[in-house]
Amino acid sequence: MAEKDLVDKLRDTGNLADDEFSCVLLCQEPGFDEYIWEKAREVREKYYGKEVYLRGLIEYTNYCKNNCNYCGIRRDNKNAERYRLTEEDILSCCDMGYDLGFRTFVLQGGEDPYFTDDRMVSIVRNIRKRHPDCAITLSIGEKEKESYQRFFDAGADRYLLRHETADKAHYKLLHPSEMSFEHRMQCLRDLKDIGYQVGCGMMLGSPGQKTEHIIEDLKFLRDFKPHMVGIGPFIPHHDTPYADEAAGTVEQTLRLLAVIRLLLPDVLLPATTALGTIDPLGREKGLRAGANVIMPNLSPTDVRGKYLLYDNKICTGDEAAECIRCMFLRVSNAGYEVVQSRGDHARYKDGSDK
Ligand code: 5AD
Ligand code: FES
Repeated sequence: MAEKDLVDKLRDTGNLADDEFSCVLLCQEPGFDEYIWEKAREVREKYYGKEVYLRGLIEYTNYCKNNCNYCGIRRDNKNAERYRLTEEDILSCCDMGYDLGFRTFVLQGGEDPYFTDDRMVSIVRNIRKRHPDCAITLSIGEKEKESYQRFFDAGADRYLLRHETADKAHYKLLHPSEMSFEHRMQCLRDLKDIGYQVGCGMMLGSPGQKTEHIIEDLKFLRDFKPHMVGIGPFIPHHDTPYADEAAGTVEQTLRLLAVIRLLLPDVLLPATTALGTIDPLGREKGLRAGANVIMPNLSPTDVRGKYLLYDNKICTGDEAAECIRCMFLRVSNAGYEVVQSRGDHARYKDGSDK
């Protein structure tokens, strides 16, 4: 089958055989990218129109007990300047974000033992109390199911935990031996069982990643059916074992965004900061390839420059209000429109996924 026909087949059936996925991922035909991006836009517009949802990202701690080989805040990076926000800081970030129009807050941090379950529950409860009309998303790593349940009961609605790679051997390569592929996958299942809207995802171009691994990722996404998929290029950080590895590319990331849009038509798909970091127009291009979410940084300006998972991260010097203005402009330049809403997954809007 010609590659463009495979794009139609993916859209119409929500699936492809391995060799067909491989053709779509590797196709170099002139005009192929424009074709798949256009199909991805058609599908996203069918479910979400021209709407783009904002998630206000609050990076509340860069302490991390983990040691992922790719990550700039891994525990062995003694050069990382560590910080933690207080509960009060976090709440005032949310208040400021609310005034700027945000209706989703994402608390993201390293796996920091200081933030015990009790502390997290208190933070979530207080955000929930102050902003009953907002979605609260946690992105705080691997926990036991009881903990996830407590956060959910306190008012958290969504959880982001990238699976990083669906291939066990590749997972072992990217992570120290104390981390387990099975546990990560178990966490994702637990989150879904509890009733969270769940986001997973992976980096593109991470060391050792082969086309076969990406096909495994796609099959995992097809079967797991997450509500959100965060993907971005791997970007080396100078104080990690991968300092000298090559970064992932814009082309590959845009290709995957479009494929994921066709695979999971109503998924929430962010145009990530990492994509904006390797290309100044990366996020706009992402929106034109099927993405429908942007995650501007709401962290206080004095800590932004410290949450560095990779080198040259953008938006580390801007005030939140500036960032927002810039984001509105970018979204409208891409032909879309920022809306002030929780931006729930399409399955939640009619209550069918509750
Ligand atoms: N380049 C790109 N993305 C990275 N992440 C961590 N380190 C890097 C890097 N060097 C991603 C991981 C993690 C998410 C919070 O950020 O996928 O899950
Ligand atoms: Fe694992 Fe940061 S140390 S994502």
